[in-house]
Amino acid sequence: MIFDEYYIKSLVRPIQDWPKPGVTFRDITPVYLSPKAQRMVADSLIQRYVETEITHIGALDARGFLLGSVLAYELNKPLVLFRKQGKLPSDTLQQAYDIEYGQAVLEVHKDAIPAGASVLLLDDLIATGGTLCAAASLVKALQATIYEAAAIIDLPDLGGSQRLQDLGIPTYTLCAF
Ligand code: PRP
Ligand code: HPA
Repeated sequence: MIFDEYYIKSLVRPIQDWPKPGVTFRDITPVYLSPKAQRMVADSLIQRYVETEITHIGALDARGFLLGSVLAYELNKPLVLFRKQGKLPSDTLQQAYDIEYGQAVLEVHKDAIPAGASVLLLDDLIATGGTLCAAASLVKALQATIYEAAAIIDLPDLGGSQRLQDLGIPTYTLCAF
């Protein structure tokens, strides 16, 4: 299915003053209500990453899991879950980060990514880039490399995709607001 950026953007719903005054929240839930949009997004990312040297798919809690699961299945790769603090039961590495609306800690199981792996990081949206930067530093701490950080939506005014690129992390998004 051919990717139609305008169709996907038309489904992203702006919610004014949520979760606090002055913020326009970009709600992706209507994208997931549309089987056509889901397929467009997934197919376009599958096409981009099929036949690459990616060894692992890294998916970010929670909305990144939606994409990560489909991509890992279709590309036949291991799926690594990067989770918010306190959710992973075995030995973890942790990275604190700032988010748009506060502070958080991201974790990954130490044995989930072998040294030398080439990891595709997936999330739904890049705002300040704090979440993907935290995941990237966990990948690096495990002696692996980041193939690319990808998301459906970029919010370039919040600087996240630029911040990732400034750190040497290739970044790819399907649309921007
Ligand atoms: C949102 C979004 C990204 C992140 C983007 O997740 O899904 O993970 O914030 O913001 P950033 O680029 O400033 O880090 P959130 O932490 O709200 O969690 P959720 O997926 O569980 O809703
Ligand atoms: N939409 C969805 N998730 C987000 C946003 C947003 O505008 N900002 C930070 N995370």
